[in-house]
Amino acid sequence: MYRTIKPTAVKWLAAVAAFGLIAAGTAGAQAPAPKAAAKPAAASKAVAAPVTPAKSTDATVREIEKYREALADGNPADLWEARGEDLWKQKRGPKNASFEKCDLGLGEGVVKGAYAKLPRYFEDTDRVQDLESRLVTCMVMLQGFKYDQAKRAPFGSAENKSNMEALVAYVTANSRGAKMNVSLSHAKEKEAYAIGKKMFFHRGGPHDFSCATCHAQDNIRIRLQDLPNLTKQEPAQRAYTSWPAYRVSQGELRSFQWRLFDCFRQQRFPELDFTSEGSVALTTYLARNANGGIFNAPAIKR
Ligand code: HEC
Repeated sequence: MYRTIKPTAVKWLAAVAAFGLIAAGTAGAQAPAPKAAAKPAAASKAVAAPVTPAKSTDATVREIEKYREALADGNPADLWEARGEDLWKQKRGPKNASFEKCDLGLGEGVVKGAYAKLPRYFEDTDRVQDLESRLVTCMVMLQGFKYDQAKRAPFGSAENKSNMEALVAYVTANSRGAKMNVSLSHAKEKEAYAIGKKMFFHRGGPHDFSCATCHAQDNIRIRLQDLPNLTKQEPAQRAYTSWPAYRVSQGELRSFQWRLFDCFRQQRFPELDFTSEGSVALTTYLARNANGGIFNAPAIKR
């Protein structure tokens, strides 16, 4: 309701094609570029194997598993969850309201199991929304924040912790153990899914990458990072149900919006606008593909 521009899939794709080259510079400047992708696009071959991923051997997979188990023993995500719970219950903003009247799809204030059914269509905004965009809506409608204020600082750092990431940790933790169950019954949900799928396979930018370039093959890794085949049910479930995650390497809890933001950077695409319709569409595609998987996050990752 506070965002009237509704780009269609076609407009979005055209924008990507037009701005891919320009945005590559800025996207790359935000964070260190992965080595292989920073190489001059070794012409056509780079597209097929842009990141020289390695086939996993059983031995390396076992070692990585051990490392992950060791990490999972103490997950600092607890700290984000606790801070998020406080923020949920605190009266904040110009209207001095808590989130306890915020409807995440299961009724006012209900957090239990809500994340496993997101993204979904909401009548009051007439949009499909993921968790983050819904939290922004509640900050605007209930707490009286300006839209830009509500969207500010979506991703935290050591100096500046993000309230958004804490709220995401709290809400998602309340879906631990729930079965992913994203509906496509509303026409706008179907539309979001179709747009997300298109985006997943859309190639563009300076390296002519799509999500599928890195995420449509089995058993590949870049160093210790899995590149799950997100087009297959089992790996798609495993990947989606493990976000948000506490990143040991960053000392921060990262939301699914961050995950997409960072993969746009890896893809040398224009910066992904936080909670944009494109980001929600892509999330709808990935979340729906994870249906039936048991949600198990906030997780902990390298
Ligand atoms: C250049 C290769 C590349 C491209 C293109 C790419 N990604 Fe990724 N993706 C990665 C890497 C590397 C990781 C693991 C990174 C890490 O652990 O920080 C990853 C991780 C992920 C994960 C989390 C997987 C898990 O199990 O934790 C998701 C989901 C994901 N990407 C989605 C996408 C989507 C959607 C796109 C398209 C917008 C995309 N990626 C484009 C390289 C890529």
